[in-house]
Amino acid sequence: MAFQPSASLLMPDAKKTNPDAGLFSELPESKRPKRVDESRSADDEQLFDWSSWQSKLPPLKKHSVAKLDVLRSYIEDYITILCTGNPGQDRFRLTLVDGFAGGGIYEGDSFGSPFVLLQAVKVAEARVNQTRTKPLTIECNYYFVEADEAAANCLDYQLRQRGYAHEIGKSITLIRGKFETAYERIIADVQQRHSRGGSRVIFFLDQCGYSDAPPPLLRAISEKLNLKAEFIVNLAIDWLTTYLRDEKTFRKIYPSLGVDAVLPIEKVLAAAKNEAFDPQYVVESLIGPAFQQVSGSPFFSPFYIQAPKSNRGYWLVHLAPARRARSAMLDVHWRVGNGCRHFGHTGLDMLSFKSDANPSGYLTGLEFGESIRSSVKDKLTHDLSREIRDKHSAGISYREFQDAYCNRTMANDEIVRQVLIRLMQEGEIDVSGKQGGAKRVDSIVPDDIIKPGTGRVLLVVPRSPKKRK
Ligand SMILES: C[S@@+](CC[C@H](N)C(=O)[O-])C[C@H]1O[C@@H](n2cnc3c(N)ncnc32)[C@H](O)[C@@H]1O
Repeated sequence: MAFQPSASLLMPDAKKTNPDAGLFSELPESKRPKRVDESRSADDEQLFDWSSWQSKLPPLKKHSVAKLDVLRSYIEDYITILCTGNPGQDRFRLTLVDGFAGGGIYEGDSFGSPFVLLQAVKVAEARVNQTRTKPLTIECNYYFVEADEAAANCLDYQLRQRGYAHEIGKSITLIRGKFETAYERIIADVQQRHSRGGSRVIFFLDQCGYSDAPPPLLRAISEKLNLKAEFIVNLAIDWLTTYLRDEKTFRKIYPSLGVDAVLPIEKVLAAAKNEAFDPQYVVESLIGPAFQQVSGSPFFSPFYIQAPKSNRGYWLVHLAPARRARSAMLDVHWRVGNGCRHFGHTGLDMLSFKSDANPSGYLTGLEFGESIRSSVKDKLTHDLSREIRDKHSAGISYREFQDAYCNRTMANDEIVRQVLIRLMQEGEIDVSGKQGGAKRVDSIVPDDIIKPGTGRVLLVVPRSPKKRK
C-alpha cells in the first residue's frame, strides 16, 4: 500500500501556484497574512512550469542556483570521501533518487537537479581516479520521478538530446508519477540489486510545498532500506513562515507537516507570537528537531539556503545515517558561505534561545562565513569545556563525543576537532589514547579518550614528521 500523507487534501495545488491561492481565497484581502517576502512577483509564478517547454523554459532563480550548488558540491564530496583510502576497491555502488525532478533544463540552458546529479557523479569519479593506480568505477543508478506530464516529457527529451539516451531504462529510470507512490518501486529495485543489504541511497526531495515528503514517509522508506537511506529535503519556507502568521490557517495545515505526534501545535504558535523571533527561527528550532525525531535519522542539519542579497530561499533539511555525511553537508555550507544561513546562535545547542546570544541570530539569521566561523569556535571552546567538565569526568571517546554533539552545533567535524585541540593546549581537557599513555597536545584520533583537564599544558611541542623509510 502506498504511503498516504495525511493532509495532502489541505494543500493547495503546490505546483506553480501562488501559495496564497486556495487556503487564503476564502479570506477577505485585508485579512490575508502578509507575505514574508513582499517582493514575490508575477514571474515567480513561472517557476518550475514546463508546460510550454518546447517554446519557453522556466527561469532558474538565484536561490535555486544556490540550492543546486549545495546539491552538486555535496554529491561530489560524498563520493570523494567514501572512495578515498581504499586502493583495492574497483567499484562503488550508489543510488540517487530525485523525487521531484522537474524538467531538467531552465531558461538559458541552465541545468536542473537531474543533470546536476549526473554531472556530479562524473566529476567525483574523475576526481577520485586522479590519485589512484587501480581505477574505480562509480556504478550509480538514478531514479528521476516527476508528476507533471509536461515536465517529465521535457526531462525525457533533454536527457536523450544530451547524450543519455542509451542509459534510459538502464542506469536511468524515469518515473512519471508521484513520489509518494513511486518510492515503493524504487525500494523494490534497490532491494533486488542489493539483496544482502548494504545499499547507499540518497533521496533529493525538492518538493514545491512542504507536505509531499513528510517525515513519517521518510521513516518508512528508511526502515525498508536498513536505516541506511539519506535524505536532502527541501521545504518551501516562504509558505510555512507565511502560514505561521495566520493561526487559523496554520491549524489547518499543521498535520500535513507530519510532526504533530511529537510537537504540539500550541508550542509552535506560542513561539511564533514572540517578536524576538523570525518565523524562520521558529521553524528551524522547533519543527527541525521534530522532523528529525519523526524521521528516525540519527544525524541532521536544518539550515537555510539563501542566495546572497535575496530574501528568497529554501529550508534544506539533511537527514543522514552517518555523522560523516552530516559533516560533509556542513563542509558544503561553510564553503558555499553566505548562501547558507542559520537562525539561532553559534554555540552548543544552537537552536535553543539564549538571552545573551547575538539577537540577530533569531531575527535575521547568521550567514555561514569567516566571522561566524570564528564565533562558533569561541563559543564552542567555552561550551564544550563546560560540558566535558560537567558530564564526562569518567571520559568519553572522541568518536562518541562527535556523534553525541554534532547535531547540536553549526560546526563540522573539523571545527570541533580544532576546538578540542585548543582546549587540550589550554589544559581544559586531557586527551590520551584508549589505553592511557602520554597526553596528546596537537592531535586527536577517534578512539582517544577525552576527560576534564588536570593542568595547563605550558609548552606545545609539535610532533616531528615521521621519517620516511
Ligand atoms: C521544485 S520543482 C523541482 C525542481 C528540480 N528539482 C530542479 O532542481 O530542477 C518540483 C517538481 O516536482 C513536481 N511535483 C510536484 N508534486 C510532485 C509529486 N507529488 N511527486 C513528484 N513530482 C512532483 C513538479 O511538477 C515540479 O516539476
